[in-house]
Amino acid sequence: MRDNIFLIGFMGAGKSTIARSLRDLYAMRLIEMDEQIERQEGMKISRIFKEKGEAYFRALETALLEGLRCEMNTVVSCGGGVPMRQCNVDAMRQSGRIVYLSAKPETIFARVRHAHNRPLLEGNMNVAYIEKLLQERLPKYLAAADVIVETDGRSAREICRDIVRQ
Ligand code: S3P
Repeated sequence: MRDNIFLIGFMGAGKSTIARSLRDLYAMRLIEMDEQIERQEGMKISRIFKEKGEAYFRALETALLEGLRCEMNTVVSCGGGVPMRQCNVDAMRQSGRIVYLSAKPETIFARVRHAHNRPLLEGNMNVAYIEKLLQERLPKYLAAADVIVETDGRSAREICRDIVRQ
């Protein structure tokens, strides 16, 4: 695949899983933004938030995306907050297609409820909070998306085929 694919969506929408499947099915290179930032900073995302603050983390996300402009045939699994900044959307649009993976709040909750690696959900691990934050973010996710793919109740293979077909 010549174009890069940027997977966006809420935490737990399945971005990492689908990114790995796309890599395996279509021999693409994979960039997992959160992992790359953790490697670069030598600390977990939750510690970056705690010790350096969210604004510092958001600046790292933007810098990472800016550095991807020359990539080809790459699938990028974006952090859930990436499309909240217009400059990030502009950078993604310049080097590929943006795919929004949608999921219902109940599905998201079921996927993330036992994890403790997402500072925004610590202390807020419930469907009502997820629904509220998702509603706040939805206009930006939708505005950024070239392609929208539902993930509820679908297999990774099915979702990948849908992405490539679209
Ligand atoms: C965030 C999502 C996380 C991570 C950070 C902030 C967000 O990534 O980047 O905790 O603002 O939605 P995932 O969407 O991969 O969980």
